[in-house]
Amino acid sequence: MTTAVLAFADEAGPAAALAARLGAKFMEVELHRFPDGESLVRVPSPVPETAILYRSLHDPNARLVEILLAASALRENGAGKVIIVAPYLAYMRQDMAFRPGEAVSQRVIGKLLASAFDGCVTVDPHLHRISSLSEVMPGTVAASLSAAPALAEALDLGSNPLLAGPDEESHQWVEAIAAPHGLDFIIGRKVRNGDRDVHVEFVDAVRAAGRNVVLVDDVISSGATLIEAAQCLRAAGALRIEVLATHCLARPADLEAMRAGGIEQVRSTDSVPGPTARIALAELLARGLAEAGLIT
Ligand code: R5P
Repeated sequence: MTTAVLAFADEAGPAAALAARLGAKFMEVELHRFPDGESLVRVPSPVPETAILYRSLHDPNARLVEILLAASALRENGAGKVIIVAPYLAYMRQDMAFRPGEAVSQRVIGKLLASAFDGCVTVDPHLHRISSLSEVMPGTVAASLSAAPALAEALDLGSNPLLAGPDEESHQWVEAIAAPHGLDFIIGRKVRNGDRDVHVEFVDAVRAAGRNVVLVDDVISSGATLIEAAQCLRAAGALRIEVLATHCLARPADLEAMRAGGIEQVRSTDSVPGPTARIALAELLARGLAEAGLIT
């Protein structure tokens, strides 16, 4: 039974690292984007019996179409099992209709992926109101892995550290990263009024006075949440403030705004390529594929 990890050229690095961990072959999928925005996808020949397609779903709209095309081409050319490894899984945040008339994108995209793939492995998807990824992807093997152990390992323990999460949703990551080091932490409260309009406060911000703070979150999107949190903690007397996150989607201008907002360093996993992606996930993904029974 042949198994290979396939990826488009822009993710050849982390995909090849995953292939190496699995002892599997790495193969590149060709992609051409036409001037009108359509994509042409061509899979290599011969296709493996078990095809593990590595594609993170930041910049999601084009990528979603391209993985559906790739899955179809893999099956038509003989793959018996097609698995998607999407370290960042988009559209998971809209998990309910917050206002009348809104589509529940988590459910729609989950079903779409379940219809195209036999298995899905991802890291820290934004599942706050449901308990498992399988509920989102009925009929397929869905594994949701936690980056918390990798983030905990990457934590630089300077002097007098304090961990902080900007909102209640970040609590689970902050707690999991703090525990192996025996660190204390504080959790903020967030009110969001718009994409970049958020307010964060810490009722116990005073605990940050004279401490080196590591802010922890699952996703950095615009960076507004962490800028707000950093300003609150800095006003309370925090010394150095840095950030550890699973996924960093921030654009260069957002990263610059974070620096200007007093955040000295941002480090994230390599789920999304970029200057902050310094924590490799290959080992976690390889283990996740095996533990989910997707590869033998
Ligand atoms: C929300 O619950 C997430 O955990 C993040 O806090 C949020 O997505 C960050 O978004 P932004 O960087 O745009 O404030």
